[in-house]
Amino acid sequence: MHVSHLSLADFRSYARAEVPLEPGVTAFVGPNGQGKTNLVEAVGYLATLGSHRVSSDAPLVRMGADRAIIRAAVVQGERQQLVELELNPGKANRARINRSSQVRPRDVLGIVRTVLFAPEDLALVKGDPGERRRFLDELITARSPRMAGVRSDYERVLKQRNTLLKSAAMARRHGGRQLDLSTLDIWDQHLARAGAELLARRLDLIATLRPLADKAYEQLAPGGGPVSFDYRGPAGIEGAHTREELYEALLAALAEARKQEIERGVTLVGPHRDELLLRLGELPAKGYASHGESWSYALALRLASYELLRAEGDEPVLVLDDVFAELDARRRERLAELVAPGEQVLVTAAVDDDVPGVLTGARFAVERGGVERV
Ligand SMILES: Nc1ncnc2c1ncn2[C@@H]1O[C@H](COP(=O)(O)OP(=O)(O)OP(=O)(O)O)[C@@H](O)[C@H]1O
Ligand SMILES: [Mg+2]
Repeated sequence: MHVSHLSLADFRSYARAEVPLEPGVTAFVGPNGQGKTNLVEAVGYLATLGSHRVSSDAPLVRMGADRAIIRAAVVQGERQQLVELELNPGKANRARINRSSQVRPRDVLGIVRTVLFAPEDLALVKGDPGERRRFLDELITARSPRMAGVRSDYERVLKQRNTLLKSAAMARRHGGRQLDLSTLDIWDQHLARAGAELLARRLDLIATLRPLADKAYEQLAPGGGPVSFDYRGPAGIEGAHTREELYEALLAALAEARKQEIERGVTLVGPHRDELLLRLGELPAKGYASHGESWSYALALRLASYELLRAEGDEPVLVLDDVFAELDARRRERLAELVAPGEQVLVTAAVDDDVPGVLTGARFAVERGGVERV
């Protein structure tokens, strides 16, 4: 698929922007702080309903405005679709497909597919476990948009269960009313149900992604691997294969943790606590890999995501935000060669020289709030 037109209103630094796009490579070039990343961030938002830079929507709305609009014409083979999102920080966001009446924002998922490379990706390797959980869960949703519903069910159940545990912990400390444990049993079941679904998808994803990441790492940094993953979850999930077995394992782990959970007032077991351990050779990447190795690892994870998504469905748009300037000449060249054949590749760079020669195509100058085809 590719985006044939991007329109923004009150998104980030743009009061308005109209950007006609084509398949193939498009580079956005301009000095720092002029709005290049803002453009590709908008495309990424359509694909994930989130920004790769911030966790809330408020900074995405132009200062002084109260809502932002991202609209894109999307071409998928013979099919054209128009998707539109209205970001209303503090209120519900709204969405439309083909100008029809409103749909839920999550119904838009799957129309725009992206794989986004950015300097922030280094946190995939060096950052907290939450970064890697988000990586997995976003990719799960890209593979299967229906999983957005399961993720939000899980988040909702987790929040309610935490509220219950917190009041139980307070009551325990201050001698208030004891928690009705049968209520907690029900929440355990809900948590384990959505949790098992998420876990099953994560485990399947990791198994599929591992060889692809290993291959990508070898292409970027020959002889530097191998790359492997360990999933660290609740005790008992190693032996679980089916969703039902994962459900039972989660329930058992929750039962085991219950006393501690009631003391601490928080849910201690479930996919929101799990860790994806990334290994390079025998060692964990985090805390051991060099800066350059960590970069190659992060790139390999993105390239593997790209291979996976294109193998399983419609080709995603590749977005490379300012990544070439961060790489040495060899990796820059290899990455450029690997992404060049993509159906649509959007690149941002501060200067022309940062766009590798193999990535020839359209060019836009981004300067003083404008986006001009050059
Ligand atoms: N909500 C907002 N309202 C108004 N301006 C904003 C908002 N969010 C960001 N900006 C402005 O957008 C600019 C940053 O744009 P962007 O990150 O796209 O720059 P860039 O061209 O990618 O720069 P670099 O080359 O440094 O990566 C900043 O000047 C910032 O002040
Ligand atoms: Mg930028």
